[in-house]
Amino acid sequence: MGSGIAQCTALSGFEVVVRSRSQSTADALVAGIEKTLQKQVEKEKITGEVAGTALSRITATSDFSVLSDCDLVLESVVEDIHTKKHLFLELDRICADHTIIATNTSTLPVIEMAMETGRPDKVCGIHFFNPATVMKLVEVVRPITASEDTIESAKEFATACDKIPVEVRDQAGFVVNALLFPYLNNAVRMLEQGIASMEDIDTSMKEGCGFPMGPFTLLDLVGLDTSLAILDALYEEYRDPNYAAVPLLRRMVTAERLGRKSGRGFYNYHSEK
Ligand code: CAA
Repeated sequence: MGSGIAQCTALSGFEVVVRSRSQSTADALVAGIEKTLQKQVEKEKITGEVAGTALSRITATSDFSVLSDCDLVLESVVEDIHTKKHLFLELDRICADHTIIATNTSTLPVIEMAMETGRPDKVCGIHFFNPATVMKLVEVVRPITASEDTIESAKEFATACDKIPVEVRDQAGFVVNALLFPYLNNAVRMLEQGIASMEDIDTSMKEGCGFPMGPFTLLDLVGLDTSLAILDALYEEYRDPNYAAVPLLRRMVTAERLGRKSGRGFYNYHSEK
C-alpha cells in the first residue's frame, strides 16, 4: 500500500518521503515504484519525463527525523494497534506542530492513535484501497477529536491525488470494509462447507454480479493476514457473528499462505519451474 500511495502522490506533484525501518526496504519500495512507472511509460500512459519527474520527487530513507519537514504524514504499517500507537507517539515527537498525522488503517480505531499524540485535532484516517494506484476511493475518517480544518485538508489532499474522497465516522471498517468483509468471510465459509470450488465461487461473482474479481482473488490481493486483522477488528467492535473469521482463513494465515505477497494464498502465484 505504501508504495502505491507514494506513487500516486508523487505523480500528483507532491514531494514524498518514503520512510521504512531499513534503508534497503525503503530503496526496494522506490525501485518497485520505478518499475511500475516504467510499465506505464511502455504502455504510453505517461511520458518518460513525467515518470522521471515523479520519481525525482521521492526520497527513500530509514531516518525518522526526515519526516519533521512534512506537512502530512500518512502511516501504512502493519494492522496492529500497539504498533500504530507507538508510531504515533514517535511521530508526534518528531513532526512540526502544524503537521497532520494520518493513518491508512482499514479498521482500527483512529481515536486511539490520535490520543497518543498531543495534537488529536490534527489526526485523521486517510484510507486508500488496493491497488492504490488504480482505485479511486479514499475514505477520510473523522475521529471525534479531529478539527474541521484537518478533515478538509485530508479531502483536498485526496482530491489533489486524483482520488474521490468520502467522509466517514471513526467506526471499525468505515464504509467499504464493514460491507465487504462479511461477503469475503462468507465466501471462505462456503468453500469450507464444500458448497462450490473457489474457482467456481470466483467465476460466479464475476460473471453473475459483474464484480471485477471474485472473492478469493480479492482476498489474495488484499492479503490474508490483513483480511484476518480486519475481520478481528470488526468482530472486536461489533460482536456480530458475520464478522467472526472463518477458521479456514485463520489457518491459512498460520500456514503463511498470505496471498500474492507470499506467493501463495487461495491461489498459487509461484511461477512454474
Ligand atoms: N497493483 C498495481 N496496479 C495494478 C494491479 C496491482 N495489483 N493490478 C492491476 N493493476 C493496474 C494495471 O497495471 C492497469 O493499469 P493501466 O490501466 O494504467 O495499465 C489497471 O490496473 C487495470 O489492470 P488490468 O487491465 O490488468 O486488470 P483489470 O481490468 O482486471 O483491473 C483491478 C484490475 C483494477 C485490480 C480490478 O480487478 C479491480 O478493480 N479489482 C477489485 C479491487 C478491489 O476491490 N479493491 C478493494 C480491495 S479492499 C481494500 O483495499 C480495503 C482494505 O482496507 C484492505
